Amino acid sequence: MIYLKTAEEIDKIRRASVAVANGLLKIRAAVSPGVTLKELDRIAESHAREIGGRPAFKGYRSYPASLCTSVNYVVVHGIPDDYRLKEGDIVGIDYGIVLDDFYGDSAMTVPVGSVSPRAEQLMQVTEESLLRGIAQAIPGNRIGDVSHAVQSYAEAAGFSVVRNFVGHGIGRRLHEEPQVPNYGNQGKGLKLEQGLVLAIEPMINEGTHETVILEDGWTAVTKDRKLSAHFEHTIAILREGPVILTRPE
Ligand code: CO
Repeated sequence: MIYLKTAEEIDKIRRASVAVANGLLKIRAAVSPGVTLKELDRIAESHAREIGGRPAFKGYRSYPASLCTSVNYVVVHGIPDDYRLKEGDIVGIDYGIVLDDFYGDSAMTVPVGSVSPRAEQLMQVTEESLLRGIAQAIPGNRIGDVSHAVQSYAEAAGFSVVRNFVGHGIGRRLHEEPQVPNYGNQGKGLKLEQGLVLAIEPMINEGTHETVILEDGWTAVTKDRKLSAHFEHTIAILREGPVILTRPE
């Protein structure tokens, strides 16, 4: 079931999404050598409660934290623990908030101090692939146009696209239909319409696209333990085209 949202519903998703974006800025500002992943998680949890919402991930299928923290070769869903970030790491911070019954979801990957040129490039390419995917989210296009835009940009830069995790519809639930793969063919898949709200979230790898889940049942890592980056925005498709809802205010 695909739910097209009214302007009022999009406004509520926007309020949750702005809160997510503001929270990510706070969390990003705290990223530095020596900080632990649990400290970042605490900022995420307090921010969600301060603005009158709640963390979207905590308790979702028994996920134990408010934030996903994915360091270096962790692709997504890293569980915050006592690991201290160190200079040269890259860390994906993925955050969701429920506010007034609606969800917002966004992620970014940030450097810890100065990082290798390769890591910088991977982060830049991943963010740009997200923006190129979003640019294709216009009424009349299809999901495959979004997917293809992400994939072609990332692969042209020499990186690979994760297949095992995809973006998703979002609204009254964290994960709604449709799925939004980061690989695919132009002109294929669901036709995009005004009122669709999507979380688009490319995960781009330095080496193989293959991933493995660790013993904890959550942490997804690259099979070859090379670097991975992840960026995500919640967007609404309006008549005029896509609007990024997870923008800070
Ligand atoms: Co998501």
